[in-house]
Amino acid sequence: MSLKNRHLFGLKDYPKKDIESILDLAFKFREVLDRPIKKVPSLNGLTVVNLFFENSTRTRISFELAQKRLSCDTVNFSASSSSLKKGESFKDTAQNIEAMKIDAVVIRHPSPGAPKTLSKFIKSIIINAGDGTHEHPTQAILDMMSLKEKFGFLKGLKIGIIGDILHSRVALSNIYGLKTMGAEITLCGPPNLIPEFLKDLGVNINYDVDEVIDWADALNVLRIQRERMGIGLVPSVREYRNFFGINQKRIEKHKKDIVIMHPGPINRGVEIDSAVADGQNAIILDQVLNGVASRMAILFLLCGGKK
Ligand code: CP
Repeated sequence: MSLKNRHLFGLKDYPKKDIESILDLAFKFREVLDRPIKKVPSLNGLTVVNLFFENSTRTRISFELAQKRLSCDTVNFSASSSSLKKGESFKDTAQNIEAMKIDAVVIRHPSPGAPKTLSKFIKSIIINAGDGTHEHPTQAILDMMSLKEKFGFLKGLKIGIIGDILHSRVALSNIYGLKTMGAEITLCGPPNLIPEFLKDLGVNINYDVDEVIDWADALNVLRIQRERMGIGLVPSVREYRNFFGINQKRIEKHKKDIVIMHPGPINRGVEIDSAVADGQNAIILDQVLNGVASRMAILFLLCGGKK
């Protein structure tokens, strides 16, 4: 079992059969995580470096755990404590790390396209852990795994993605992945945060969150990035919450069990209230656990052939 592409840069044009292979294997690795000894020797002897140029809680820890569960040697690089601070370039940093004989790099970077640029400088396998506003493919894989776990299928599933779509790498990777798998998607949020061109990707746009709740099987609620408020893209927290916030009162009005997802980090009381985020229909912490299994599957399918 191997994947068509040597690297994972994003889910745009990613083969459906490769998404299926990743999901199938992720469910197998998910069983490993329930064992008393949560470890398999699958990638014993390989070395993976986690290159993080931007903050992360879930993605970084989940990649590190996935590597440890697969018996890889794993090294964490954080830009803020590196020689980048002394003026070393991105290229020199990457080439110096690779000179120490590594096999794969997981990279998070604020610049869209950084993982692809990295592939021009080094020979290691590269996995995108989020590049600016571009893509976050492993998040979309774990989201699809969580939906499949909950519903048993993806084809025909109706997913509402709510929030700041314009700046969301999670939204774009979810759109590519879920459309490939045959799901239906409706985007919802302030009009200035939903680019019209996304309609060309075969998604619906609806600015009325109550209509989207009526329609959807699941909502993927995105963080409203507070830093955008200062520059006028969202008038105020209060206004956003009134129009698009997912709260208990709004959900109860629809008298249906709708599955609630959020990639994290959550701004409680802004895009989602605690009663919904912690409620019985939320699968937010299942997403986090599935992130470890999904990343184990991705690492194994990309790096297993090197052994
Ligand atoms: N979902 C996600 O990417 O979270 P982190 O930024 O904490 O990694």
